[in-house]
Amino acid sequence: MRVIGIESSCDETAVAVYDAQRGLLSHRLHSQIALHQAYGGVVPEIASRDHVKWLLPLVREALADAKSGPESIDGVAYTAGPGLIGALLVGAGFARSLAYAWGRPAVAIHHLEGHLLAPLLEPDPPRFPFLALIVSGGHTQLVDVAEIGRYRILGETLDDAAGEAFDKTAKMLGLPYPGGAALARLAEPGRPGRFKFPRPMLDRPGLEFSFSGLKTAALVALRDRELDDQARADVAHGFQEAIVETLAEKSRRALAATGHRRLVVAGGVGANLSLRERLHAVARGAGAQLYFPRAEFCTDNGAMIALAGCMRLSRGDRQGLELGARASWELGSQGE
Ligand code: KG4
Ligand code: ZN
Repeated sequence: MRVIGIESSCDETAVAVYDAQRGLLSHRLHSQIALHQAYGGVVPEIASRDHVKWLLPLVREALADAKSGPESIDGVAYTAGPGLIGALLVGAGFARSLAYAWGRPAVAIHHLEGHLLAPLLEPDPPRFPFLALIVSGGHTQLVDVAEIGRYRILGETLDDAAGEAFDKTAKMLGLPYPGGAALARLAEPGRPGRFKFPRPMLDRPGLEFSFSGLKTAALVALRDRELDDQARADVAHGFQEAIVETLAEKSRRALAATGHRRLVVAGGVGANLSLRERLHAVARGAGAQLYFPRAEFCTDNGAMIALAGCMRLSRGDRQGLELGARASWELGSQGE
């Protein structure tokens, strides 16, 4: 079984070829970050147009890298949601047309399913079942993963996603969009404890998150003050600490509640080294093992979609002629 995967839910156009026996054969990605930077965030219409421009060349390149012709592809997987609807429609229409022209089945993939399966692209992958912490620009969720397609959301954010909070605070600190990784770099020389940030939701039971208060705390720390470089680093450090501690503590609680022995961290914020370090400690404390994808597969990519598609097609999932694109789509809910 060999599957081509197509991701276009936001500001990355990505295509990959995954083979059930040989693993990942190729992956190509075009990032639109430079296009959107002037606006301080993703402009949906610009994103859709750029996906139109890049999909075909990336498919050609990914096939060439994989030394595969269309005849050796057994199916086409694509991100059907959640995400920007225009961007999704471009990818879905394109992928569905390819499948039709090649006479192959298509399969619609949930973007977060792609993220939570991404650690399976690495050597020594996690076995099912596991607990997944998904931390991206759009989502923050703890998910009980029984097997592919069997997901139970244990807790999620009530307001901003972790990546969104990183990006908004980074913007206040004068860093370019998306600022998560830049904020993490700025935080490196920061001194612990110089700026106090709240630890949202830690005083309450349950596995929900809330990050919008942190953004306000950052605003207060930065307001009416001329901060030098060291003080900016201190703010970044305090902010990152608050997010990391909250994510780690809720993950610890979820491991205890479910008894899982495997913790998977995925999504863009999963690239954060401070978070990884803290989650390692949490996993050790719970007698569990931590799994994460390499940094480039934490953020959006085609490899995770090709892999998810290969797993779904292998177990017989097929899609009709509909596009299936939808802006909001709860993980584990029907309509797949
Ligand atoms: O998963 P992703 O590529 O896109 C979504 O599906 O949302 O995640 C992007 C998010 C952005 O908010 C970005 O700032 C954040 O991941 N991010 C980071 C780091 N690298 C990317 N946040 C914190 N630390 C990082 N090293
Ligand atoms: Zn994503």
